[in-house]
Amino acid sequence: MRSARYWAPIIRLVADNAARLVRLSGMDEVSFHMSGTEAVMQAVRLARYHTRRSHLVRFCGAYHGWWGDVQPGIGNPVPAHETYTLEDMSEASLRVLRSRRDIACVLVNPVQAMHPNSSAPADSTLVDSARQAHLDRAAYADWLKQLRAVCTDRGIVLLFDEVFVGFRLAPGGAQEYFGVQADLVTYGKTLGGGLPIGVVCGRKHLMKRFREDRPADICFARGTFNSHPYVMAAMNEFLRHLEEPAIGALYRDLDETWDRRAASLNRRLRDAELPVRVTNLSSIWTICYTRPSAYNWMFQYYLRAEGLALSWVGTGRLIFSLNYREADYQAVADRLVAAAEAMQRGG
Ligand SMILES: Cc1ncc(COP(=O)(O)O)c(C=O)c1O
Repeated sequence: MRSARYWAPIIRLVADNAARLVRLSGMDEVSFHMSGTEAVMQAVRLARYHTRRSHLVRFCGAYHGWWGDVQPGIGNPVPAHETYTLEDMSEASLRVLRSRRDIACVLVNPVQAMHPNSSAPADSTLVDSARQAHLDRAAYADWLKQLRAVCTDRGIVLLFDEVFVGFRLAPGGAQEYFGVQADLVTYGKTLGGGLPIGVVCGRKHLMKRFREDRPADICFARGTFNSHPYVMAAMNEFLRHLEEPAIGALYRDLDETWDRRAASLNRRLRDAELPVRVTNLSSIWTICYTRPSAYNWMFQYYLRAEGLALSWVGTGRLIFSLNYREADYQAVADRLVAAAEAMQRGG
């Protein structure tokens, strides 16, 4: 048995993290979980509990972790009977939301703004060279506003899953970037300062885990390592850091900075007649190929030879740290051009 003195600093830390997340998310309450997947599970469970409806809606190609209900299809041996996978940015999907009575929540992964209705563009999909990506921020914001309106109308919970985008697009995340307030938001990854984490932020009435009139009818949530002290301390460092003026300055003109960098690289690639282009959602980039070739996936190895090691999705997703200075960025751009030239020379 530990004394109250032992727990007090941990409780203060958890409370401080919760208060900071309330401010950032614009929500009322916060709960801590062990991974992004679990945060999504908890958010969907709360939505089902409060709406007393069964189904969740996700959009084509969107990743929300590996829980069965959000991952119907390949890799999940059990059919997800209570999941509707709808077309992103589509009037037909709005009609479904307007007409069905069994929908508890709609999940949005804002990174899909760059490639609606398709999954993360991995190099393994390059055999047909069909990879496409393009951000139309205004159109996606408009779509989210339509979703917001239909969800409000129909009593459906709108859930932004910001586990991937986190606080990368703006201090207030994708909600701020696209100008739409969700009912529940999930975060993960970066918030843990490198340690495993999942967070749900939500409106008070949705975060409640019991009913006023039937207190034994609870909405269960557990996890041995929820609010783990190490994770809470790392998160506190991250959240305090986020509020420092120097970090705040990184967000100023963020889109202009990254759009300018992408445009200048594309100019260099075009001028050198290289069949490679980049597309970006702020600091999240993908590489596209203007000339079909069964060998485009090999570009990742030319990049590696130039000293750029990529993640498992290869050239499909490059994620820059926000603190990249101009010189850091130029070094990456130079290597990318050099790799493309080497691959061109190699035929
Ligand atoms: C949007 C989104 N949701 C959920 C998850 C799952 O998070 P975790 O891997 O921490 O379970 C991820 C992970 O990449 C994600 O990108």
